Parts: sequence; C-alpha cells; structure tokens
Amino acid sequence: MKNRKLFTKILGIGAYVPEKIVTNDDLCKIVDTTDEWIQTRTGIRERRIAAADQTTSDLCVCAARRAIENAKIAADDIDLILTGTITSDVAFPATSVFIQRKLGLKDIPCFDYNVACSGLQYGIEIARSLIGLQSYKNILLVCGDKLSAVTDWQDRSTCILFGDGAGAIVLSATENEEENSIIDVLLGADGEHSEILILPAGGSREPTSRESVNERKHFLKMSGRDVFREAVKLMGNCAQEILEKNGMSANDIDFVVTHQANWRIIDAIRERLGVPSEKVCVTIDKYGNTSASSCIIAIDSLIKGNKIMKGSKILTVSFGAGLTWGAAILKF
Ligand code: COA
Repeated sequence: MKNRKLFTKILGIGAYVPEKIVTNDDLCKIVDTTDEWIQTRTGIRERRIAAADQTTSDLCVCAARRAIENAKIAADDIDLILTGTITSDVAFPATSVFIQRKLGLKDIPCFDYNVACSGLQYGIEIARSLIGLQSYKNILLVCGDKLSAVTDWQDRSTCILFGDGAGAIVLSATENEEENSIIDVLLGADGEHSEILILPAGGSREPTSRESVNERKHFLKMSGRDVFREAVKLMGNCAQEILEKNGMSANDIDFVVTHQANWRIIDAIRERLGVPSEKVCVTIDKYGNTSASSCIIAIDSLIKGNKIMKGSKILTVSFGAGLTWGAAILKF
C-alpha cells in the first residue's frame, strides 16, 4: 500500500471577508490622505475590516466551512489542519487549534506556519508533501489574517493598504494522475530583508513593555518603497522561473493570480510576463491587501465568476514579510 504514488487534488475552495466596508473616504477622516492618492498609488477603493470581537480563527472558520461544503465532504473527513497566519488569535497556542475546536473536530493534528502573504504557496507545498508521504487524505489549508489588529491607524503610509479576510482549500489525496491539481510549486526566502516589513515588539527580541507600546512597536512597520521594489523583482523572477522549469510559457496559463498588495505591482508582473489584463485577476480594489488569504480570495472570485473551467491552469505568485516568496501552477 505504502508505495503507491499519490497526487494532490483541490477538492474545494472557500473565502470569507467581514461585512464592514471601510472606504478611502472613511480613512480620510482619520489620517491625512485622499481617495485620489490611495487609488492612483495602490488601486484600492475599499477594504473589509473585522468586528472588534471577530478573531482570525473566526474569519478562518467561515472560509473553512465554505471550502468543506464546496468539497462535498463532511468536516469529520478532514485529517489535518494547517493555518498560514501572522495575526494568530493569541501568541500561542496555534490558531489552528481554535479552528479545530470551532469546527467541532477532535484529535487531528493542527499547526500554524508564518510566511505572511506567501501563505497559499507555502501551504500547498506542505500539504502536497504530506499527502505524497501518504500521511493524510484530506488536508484543510486555511490562510487568514486580521491585519486591522496590528495596523497603526495613525500611520497613513500603511493603514490605507490592508484589509481582513480568510481563504481555505481542501486538498485531498488521489491515485489518479489526471486529477492532480498541483503542477508545481517554487518557494524562496531572504532574511536579509527581514526588517523592511516587520512587527517589531511583542516577541522574544523585544517583549511588550510600556516603552514598546508608547513607541507603537506593536504595530506593523514597513518601508514601502523597498518592499515595492523587492516585490516586483521577486514575484517576477519566481513566476518566470516556475514557467521555465515546467517548459511552459505565459500562453499556457489561463489566469495569473498574484498577491494583491498594490495594483501597480500586479501590473508590473503582468507586463513582465507579457499577458493581457483579462488574464490577470484583480481584487485589490475591493479588499485591499488581505495578506495570506489574498490569492485564495482572488481564485475564489474567479470560480464564482464562472471563469474557471475543467482543465484551467492558474499561475499564482506571492511575496510577503520575511521576505518570503512562492509560485504555484494549479490545474482545475
Ligand atoms: N496619503 C497621502 N500621501 C501619502 C500617503 C497617503 N496615504 N502615504 C504616503 N504619502 C506620501 C509620503 O509621505 C510621501 O510624501 P513626501 O514625498 O512628501 O515624503 C509621498 O506620499 C510618496 O511616498 P512614497 O512612499 O514614495 O509613495 P509610493 O509611491 O512608494 O507609495 C506605497 C507608497 C506604500 C503605496 C508603495 O510604496 C507600496 O505599495 N509599497 C509596497 C507595499 C506592500 O506591498 N506591502 C505589503 C507587502 S506584503
């Protein structure tokens, strides 16, 4: 039994964004900015912000329920929960265990990983590796963040960018190669850039103190121009490398789904790959940057828009704090 080759099939996808819409005009009331500046520099018109009592695991559970329903399996069929988040409910234990409890599941292993916005691509690689080892049959991969909880609402250079949301995928083992959904995954990271996007305090390096709070170090800090430059370079390189590695060109891809961080970054990747804008999924106008969930929310929007057919191929590419990056070619 153990030497069968197993492939990984995407069985169901679900996404969730909170109800509350915060427009650019709403932000103009709290920081010195304009709708025009935000739209021209980022492409964002509005974002969703979670309720005060809604945690990251709450967002993730909503997305997970939808993914499980779309997968047409029972929640009990899930045998591992894997969560990509940088805004865990509490410092520990893992957000995955709260998701497990809220889904009413028992005993199955649960763990989190922290790669920020590259959560989908890293999560798929972990899941398909575990499935390949014949360890699990139905893995629930959840990516979610409540970035509003770590956003400095006095900092106009960051607070305009982010939104809350979650996405989930059920990945299942199959012996049938025809059903394989994961053509390839490519991952990378460079700790040399760890300081350009960071939440400085509250960890072992600088435990929370009165000073750290006064200096607002419990909010995320970002060097926007540096992140922009690296994002364009790293996502572009990674997308091209995975295509070349698989003997494919952008013409073989039906949709490109990049991390939704800035419309100008998305368009730079589109230009570098030489694909028409109809092939590029853009949701940043409605949701802003939702961190790890952004690519899943975008893929979910393509599914809901009936754009994905049987056999459609998606190239998804991301980058995030770390810096981390990753690309995956998916077949539906
Ligand atoms: N409203 C109005 N003006 C603003 C502003 C805002 N919300 N935020 C910054 N500015 C000002 C700056 O203070 C600066 O003014 P100055 O020239 O007088 O100093 C000016 O606008 C230009 O700032 P700059 O940082 O050069 O703008 P930018 O064109 O690089 O755009 C970002 C800023 C943040 C939108 C852009 O750098 C970006 O998207 N970076 C990547 C962010 C990202 O992807 N993060 C997530 C990674 S997962």
